[in-house]
Amino acid sequence: MKNHSILNEKQKIMNHNFKLILMAIFVFAINTSNAQYEKRPNPTAYKSPVLKAIAYGITAPSPHNTQCWFIDTLSSNEMLLYVKHVLPETDPPARQIHMGAGCFIELMAIGMSNEGYETKVEYFPFGEYEIQKNKIAEKPLAKISFIKNSSIQKDVLYDFIYQRGTNRKPYTGKMITIEEFNQIKLLMDKAHSEMTFITGESEMKPYLDIFSKAMEIETKTKMTNEETRKMFRFNEEERQTKKDGISIPQMGTDGMGKMFAEMSLKKGDSLTWHSGKIFKATMKGINKGVYSSKGIIMFKTNTNTMLDWILAGRDYARYNVAIAKLGIVTHPYNQVIQEYSQMEELQKEFNKLTKTKSKEKIQMIVRVGRAKSSYKSWRKNVEDFIISK
Ligand SMILES: Cc1cc2nc3c(=O)[nH]c(=O)nc-3n(C[C@H](O)[C@H](O)[C@H](O)COP(=O)(O)O)c2cc1C
Repeated sequence: MKNHSILNEKQKIMNHNFKLILMAIFVFAINTSNAQYEKRPNPTAYKSPVLKAIAYGITAPSPHNTQCWFIDTLSSNEMLLYVKHVLPETDPPARQIHMGAGCFIELMAIGMSNEGYETKVEYFPFGEYEIQKNKIAEKPLAKISFIKNSSIQKDVLYDFIYQRGTNRKPYTGKMITIEEFNQIKLLMDKAHSEMTFITGESEMKPYLDIFSKAMEIETKTKMTNEETRKMFRFNEEERQTKKDGISIPQMGTDGMGKMFAEMSLKKGDSLTWHSGKIFKATMKGINKGVYSSKGIIMFKTNTNTMLDWILAGRDYARYNVAIAKLGIVTHPYNQVIQEYSQMEELQKEFNKLTKTKSKEKIQMIVRVGRAKSSYKSWRKNVEDFIISK
C-alpha cells in the first residue's frame, strides 16, 4: 500500500515535470516564431489575401530602404502597385526604385505560395509612364491578383524570407566558389537577367577599385551625398519611429564603434555630414568592406526597359533569399551604374571592363561572402502602404 502511494506520488511529479517541459517548449516555439517578425508585420495577423501579401512584400530590399511601394487595393484579392520617384539624385530614371518594386512583387509571390495562392502579375496594365521627381507615378506598374490554388507548392525559398538582409560587414573566410554560385542559380530557379560571377583576388581587383572610386564620387557629389543624409537615421529612436532608411548599424558597425560613429554625425548636422572628416571615415569603412569581397555577382539585361528593371528586381530578391538559405551574405555596390553626370566617365570605364554593349545594362552589382549576422532593418506598417487613387 505504501509502495503504491509512493509510486502514485512519483507519477504525479513526473506528470507535473512533463507538463512544465511541454509548456517551456511551447513558450520557446512561440518566442522563436515571433522573433522573425521583430521590426516587421506578421502576415498571419491579416485575413485578407492582399494585406497578407503586403506583409510579405515589405520584407523585400529597396534602395536606401525607401520602401516606396504604394498600393491601391481593388478587392481582397487584387491590387494596383505604384512607385514614387523618391531618389531623383542617385537614381534619375527611377530605375532602382522600379527594381525595388520587382523585389516587393517577388517576396509577395514567395510568401503567398505558402498561403495557397498563386500570384498573377500584369505589368503596366494602363501602359508605361513618365515619372516626375518626388511624385507617385500616375499609372500603376502592375496589377497583381492572388488566386487560390490547391495544387500550388510552397516556394523552396519560403522558409528563408525572414533571414534575408543586406550585410555590409567586412567578409571573412573562404572565397565563394563556382559550385556555390551554381547552387544559388539553381535555387533561384529562373532568372530574367544574365548573372556573371567573378572570383579570385587578381580578377576582382579592377572591379573593386572601380567600386571604391564610384563610392568616392557619390560621397563627394553634394546632391547625391545629401540625398543619402535625408534617408539616414541617426539613432535607434529615429529608426524605430520612421521605420525606414539606412543607418550606422546597417552599415555593419556595432557596439562602441556604432556609438562613436553616431555621436560624430551629430544627429545629421549638414556641415558635419559633408565635411572632409566624415568623408575620410566613410571611405575607410567602405574600403574595408570592398576589399574583403569573396566574390562579385552582376545582373545584366539585354535591354534597359522599365520591364527589365522590374524583372531584374525580382531576380535580385530571389537571389537575396536563396543566399540566405546557403548561409552566404551580400552587399550591393551600384554607384558606378547610376545615371547622373558625375558618374559618366567611370561608368564608361566600367562598361569597357565588363564588355557591356550599348543596349545592355548591368542592373545590379553585389559583393558576396561570409560574415556574422548584421543589424536587421525596420519596415513600416502594412497600413502605411495603402493609398486610394
Ligand atoms: C535596387 C536596389 C539597389 C540597392 N543598392 C544598394 C547599394 O548600392 N549599396 C548598398 O549598400 N545597398 C544597396 N541596396 C540595399 C538596400 O539599401 C537595402 O535593401 C535596404 O536598406 C533594406 O535593408 P535589408 O536589405 O537589410 O532588408 C539596394 C537595394 C535595392 C533593392
